[in-house]
Amino acid sequence: MTGFARGALAASLIALAAPALADGDIAKGEKVFKKCLACHSVEAGAKAKVGPNLHDVVGRQTGTAPDFKYSDPMAALGAEGHIWTVEELDKFLTDPKGMVPGTKMSFAGLKKPEERADVIAYLVSLNPAGAEAPAATN
Ligand code: HEC
Repeated sequence: MTGFARGALAASLIALAAPALADGDIAKGEKVFKKCLACHSVEAGAKAKVGPNLHDVVGRQTGTAPDFKYSDPMAALGAEGHIWTVEELDKFLTDPKGMVPGTKMSFAGLKKPEERADVIAYLVSLNPAGAEAPAATN
């Protein structure tokens, strides 16, 4: 597929899935991310903290950050080919333990759709190419 077709496809998938997701505000998302910073680094190549580095998490296969020991359920999800698309991140951040029972991410989730859209926009801004990842296979 050409880069243009991939981009257009990703954009239309995001738009179709949830209009709110496409309208995330990067600056607001960076503020929301303060809730994640205690456990997650975002600079390229930074060390894992309590949780894995999230610099390129958008479009990354689940459970595959180097130098991080994932829980069995998270590793198993990744082994099935699960990828962190914008939609899957939205699901996980709504209710981490609901989507991945047994995850060791001790975080209740972000109940407000705007907060999720903003923080995901921030994550996409760190790795724009990742938003073109193919939709999840499961
Ligand atoms: C209390 C610590 C903590 C907080 C706060 C936290 N996380 Fe996590 N996060 C983790 C841990 C630990 C894992 C690994 C989970 C596992 O292996 O089951 C994880 C995993 C993840 C993953 C999967 C990454 C991968 O490589 O597959 C994403 C995405 C994620 N967190 C996003 C966030 C975002 C966004 C926030 C803030 C809204 C957040 N987390 C807040 C600890 C945290």
